[in-house]
Amino acid sequence: MTITPRFGEDQVDEAAELIVRGGVVAFPTETVYGLGADAADHDAVAKVYSAKGRPIGHPLIVHVASADDAWSWAREAPPTARALADAFWPGPLTLILPRNDKAAAITVGGLDTIGLRVPGHHLARRLIMAVDARSGGAGAGLAGPSANRFGHVSPTTAAHVLDDLDGRIDGVLDGGACRVGVESTIVEAVGGRLSLLRPGGVTLDELEAALRHAGLDDAITVESSLDGSAGESRAAGMLTSHYAPDAPVVVVADLDDVVLGPADAVIGPGPVAHEPSVALGERPAEFATEMYRALRDLDAMEGVRRIVVVRPGDGPMIAAVLDRLAKASAPR
Ligand code: TXA
Ligand code: MG
Repeated sequence: MTITPRFGEDQVDEAAELIVRGGVVAFPTETVYGLGADAADHDAVAKVYSAKGRPIGHPLIVHVASADDAWSWAREAPPTARALADAFWPGPLTLILPRNDKAAAITVGGLDTIGLRVPGHHLARRLIMAVDARSGGAGAGLAGPSANRFGHVSPTTAAHVLDDLDGRIDGVLDGGACRVGVESTIVEAVGGRLSLLRPGGVTLDELEAALRHAGLDDAITVESSLDGSAGESRAAGMLTSHYAPDAPVVVVADLDDVVLGPADAVIGPGPVAHEPSVALGERPAEFATEMYRALRDLDAMEGVRRIVVVRPGDGPMIAAVLDRLAKASAPR
């Protein structure tokens, strides 16, 4: 039995009602579950930080129902941002833009910018639209960090959310398992340049192709941790030792690179000759879908002291997979 109510897809209105009244409700997106509150409501967003145990000052992503609603939270949206929105929204892309006063300052961690995303999950959009309908139709936004305890692995099912946050939030909208499985790609479009702050469900190749297709030849600077050039972290997801299970994680290219003992669990692309182990998809995008679930499952298993992850081979979304694995395995 859990304390926090779990809402099904016929209960979107109940979930929306809680949010309009200043509550905190977790909701499914195609990437990971978000922890939703009205992004314009200081007190509601403060509850999101305290439920997660997240330090104030880490900006949250605001989820909206459409690109036009997104622009209503921004001071300006350059043509590059509009082209990326056209190509990838609804979907796993977050755009960072200069903000206006619509969001509560706490939502954006006091920054002059705001992260905006139109999620691709039908229940997420239905929830946002139901909140919008109840709050005047001015383009409502849900502040939504991943719905996990701060520093822990992001949740890809409603059960994961409750494992971390039961009794600390007002509800969870259950939309099944997330399709992408890792967080959105974050692109900052501020000051006339484009920077990739976090690799995710939309790849750099796809971003560049969309810009070219729109006749824009702006380059995207890669600032994520993979590049090695990232200085002071601007996205909390760029902090080391984020996304980590309790058991230490080791990432290897090949199982021969490590000596396995009985307290080790293994995650591999495809089957692995070791017990316990989890076989994920061989392609990085398939691997990503269940990577967090596998980390959580093995972490919860009796006797597991270390999780060895065999990285998948190259392919679309390998940057996102390696970025999250680097964080899960970073020194604590
Ligand atoms: O897929 C996702 O992005 C999920 C789902 C729920 O939408 N959300 C998510 O939120 O991963 P969170 O809070 O765990 O990570 C958001 C990242 C953080 O690293 C935060 O620092 C960064 O986005 N961020 C948000 N607003 C920002 C801003 N204005 N400037 C720079 N970074 C920002
Ligand atoms: Mg997170």
